[in-house]
Order: sequence, then C-alpha cells, then structure tokens
Amino acid sequence: MIKIAPSILSADFSRLGEEVGRLETEGADWVHVDVMDGVFVPNITIGPAVVKAIRPCTSLPFDVHLMITSPERYIEQFADAGADYITVHVEATEDVKGAIDRIHSLGKKAGLSLNPETPFTAVEPYLEHIDLLLVMTVRPGFGGQSFMPVGLPKIAAARERFDAIGSSAELAVDGGINRDTGRECIDAGVSVLAAGSALFKSPDMRAEMELWRAYKR
Ligand code: DX5
Ligand code: ZN
Repeated sequence: MIKIAPSILSADFSRLGEEVGRLETEGADWVHVDVMDGVFVPNITIGPAVVKAIRPCTSLPFDVHLMITSPERYIEQFADAGADYITVHVEATEDVKGAIDRIHSLGKKAGLSLNPETPFTAVEPYLEHIDLLLVMTVRPGFGGQSFMPVGLPKIAAARERFDAIGSSAELAVDGGINRDTGRECIDAGVSVLAAGSALFKSPDMRAEMELWRAYKR
C-alpha cells in the first residue's frame, strides 16, 4: 500500500493548525514538513517552534525534511518538537553517518535525501543504515515546480538495493508529484509519495489521494 505524505509547504500558513488537522480526516498517512534555512536552499520556511506548535493538531507521523546546512545542529530540536522521521540531505553535511546515528540515538527514524543533480552513488554507502530514502525530483526550495524524470532511475536502483539487502526502509519521492508522475514513481518502486501543490490545490484532496492509492504496480 502506497503511503501519501502531503507537504504543508502548500498549505494556508495563516491557518496551519487547521490545515494539519484536516489531513487526518482527508486520509493522509504522514505529514511532510519542509524545513528550509535560506542557505542550503534559497527559501526559509518552518523551524522547530512551529513543528512543536502543530504537533498536537494531528496524530499522524511527522516526516520532517531538513533542507538545511549542517543539519546535525538542529536534529535534537526537531526530535524534541515531535518529528517521527528526520531526513537530512547527503549534500548538506560532512558527516552523513554521524547525522544518521544522532537521529537514531534520539529514538527517531532516519531519512536521507538527494538532490536531482546528485548521483545515486552518493547515498549508496548509507542505505543499510537508514529508514527512509527521499529522492528529490525538483531542486528543493519551492513547491509547484515540474517533476524531473532524472529521479526515476535512482528510485529503481534504490528499490533494487533495498530488496537485495532485505531492507524494509521507506522509499519516498518529493517534487512535482501528481497523479501521473506519482504513477511513474510507483512503477519505479516508491512506497511513499510526498506532494504539496497537487494535493492542496485539489478541490477534493481525499478523492485525489484515493486515486493515487488505487494504482498498484
Ligand atoms: C521542495 C519540497 C517539497 C515541496 C513539494 O523543496 O521539499 O516537499 O513541498 O511541492 P510540490 O509537490 O508542489 O512539488
Ligand atoms: Zn520536501
């Protein structure tokens, strides 16, 4: 069963608590929280205080995507704020394994992400240590961009490696996901679709997600 993680980057920030609460009623599986620092990406979004403030609005897992330089500086704060999955970028830290270990030591699930320009080989050494691989199919920073197919062979390669090593890690994709690109990613082997604009702009988010889930490989 495919999991769907709506990205609250596309939510109405003036009513963020309600928007997060609504996701559970709409039938979402996770809440995808995009954290940006204005350095790793050219945008600034949500910090630990906001994550903490919206945590009581839902019982869904928080999938926190850290698009920040040297994420190890903030892992503990996001763990304390109520993150369930904490994902760091392979390009953002000198010590990827250290960041993964830090996340695990706080009792959280560790995710690793890679940008469209980054080759799959950059994350390969860490696959056995992670609980989630997040393949970016846009340059991180903004919602509403077009899907970059360069992620598809990486998804297929990751699916093959996870199966080969008997890992049950989640394989997620993020960026430009809609009912068509989502289908291509399911075919390539993802278990989680993260999506912002296609869900929040939909007149019926529940029906849209049901459509995505109905598609099986
Ligand atoms: C992009 C973020 C994504 C973004 C996806 O930097 O990491 O999670 O919210 O938005 P859409 O689905 O609109 O591409
Ligand atoms: Zn994201």
